[in-house]
Amino acid sequence: MNDYYGELCTQVYETNKSIAGGEELEFYLSYVKHKNMQLLEPMCGNGRMLLPFLEKGIDIDGFDISEEMLSLCRLKAQNLNLKPNVFHCRLEEFTSDKRYDLVLIPFGSFSLLPDELVKDSLANMRNVLKDDGKILLTVIMNNGPIDEMPDWGETNRQYIDGNEIIEYKKMSFDQESNMLNTTLKYHLIKGGQAVKEEIMEFPVRLYEKGEFENVLKANGFKDFTRHEVENGYGAGSSFHVFECGK
Ligand SMILES: C[S@@+](CC[C@H](N)C(=O)[O-])C[C@H]1O[C@@H](n2cnc3c(N)ncnc32)[C@H](O)[C@@H]1O
Repeated sequence: MNDYYGELCTQVYETNKSIAGGEELEFYLSYVKHKNMQLLEPMCGNGRMLLPFLEKGIDIDGFDISEEMLSLCRLKAQNLNLKPNVFHCRLEEFTSDKRYDLVLIPFGSFSLLPDELVKDSLANMRNVLKDDGKILLTVIMNNGPIDEMPDWGETNRQYIDGNEIIEYKKMSFDQESNMLNTTLKYHLIKGGQAVKEEIMEFPVRLYEKGEFENVLKANGFKDFTRHEVENGYGAGSSFHVFECGK
């Protein structure tokens, strides 16, 4: 069975990536200039970024391909008395009559799209952007030598609602396609026995320096700025955001 952001993966994700905050959140919030702005977060997952925006009364829609992630987002929203407009959709198939001032994909999620889906995904976001709208994208960069993991290794162990979930990982890097191919395995342990297993193929496209700007240009985007958000993911952990217009 192959589950993409399935039940166990979603539970583990939530333990340490529940709600955005700090420098990262501040960076994205700084683009909201007035309360009438319309925002869209494709690949919104568990609402990590979307919910703090909604809490501030900002109009933001979101979508994702994982029903488990979306359910968790809705549940968290309900606990906060919020009603999010989040729905199931693939970015490469997304269309809408609505036009947005700002489209954002934080946390490197765009790197989850293989090259063959990039063109349609970018076009779909471009189509829903207002003429003076902005897009903010993050990708995962290739920052040097990668330690492959040919054999399963335990990478996480969480105790959630009295149960234990163990995450195992295998990882290899394909230099030709720049794909970091990870397989994740989750075991739900009850009474010392594995009662559920989830396997998730998790290919991630790593981008070389300068490469993603060229991809955006080739797909009709303009007015580029590349921001470095220092300590964006916490002390010592910075990330880059690509800002552009249509
Ligand atoms: C790492 S999570 C990040 C969620 C969110 N961007 C954040 O900042 O926390 C990536 C999400 O992308 C979703 N995803 C992957 N491929 C997708 C696609 N083609 N279309 C829409 N969502 C996708 C996954 O289901 C997952 O919830």
